[in-house]
Amino acid sequence: MKILIINGPNLNLLGTREPQIYGTSNFENYLGELRQEFKEINIDYLQSNHEGDLIDALQIAADKVDAVILNAAAYSHTSIALADTVKAIQTPVVEVHISNIFARESFRHHSYLSAVCKASLSGFGLRGYAMAIYYLKHENN
Ligand code: DQA
Repeated sequence: MKILIINGPNLNLLGTREPQIYGTSNFENYLGELRQEFKEINIDYLQSNHEGDLIDALQIAADKVDAVILNAAAYSHTSIALADTVKAIQTPVVEVHISNIFARESFRHHSYLSAVCKASLSGFGLRGYAMAIYYLKHENN
C-alpha cells in the first residue's frame, strides 16, 4: 500500500513553530518513526507553502497512491479550490490537524476539507498521522 502525506504552509517549521501548540519534533524525525511503525506501507511525503502546489500534488497523487493524508494547515480554513480537488479525485483523503482546531480561534473551527474527506482527525498531535495510516490500512476504502 502506498500513502502520500501532504503538509501545507508553515508545517516545514514544525519543531520550532509555536511548540506549545505543535510540539518540539520536526516532521522529518516523526516520518522516520512512522516508517518504522508501518514498515509494510510505502509512505511518501511532500510539504509546500503554496496552494497551487498542494492542488497539483493531489491531482498527481490521484493515479499513483492508494490514499492521501492531508494537513492543508491554514488553507483548510480558506481553500474551496483544495476542497474541489479532493472532491475531483477518487483517491481517499484523510484530513489531519495536529492541534485541536475546535479549541482554538473561531476562524479555525471550520475546514472546507472535512466534508469532502473520508475522515478528519484533530488534536491528537503528530500521532494523528499514525492514526490516519492505521485507519487507511484497516478500512476498505
Ligand atoms: C493545523 C491547524 C491550522 O489551523 C493551522 O493554520 C496550521 C496547522 C494543525 O495541524 O493543527 O497551520 O492544520
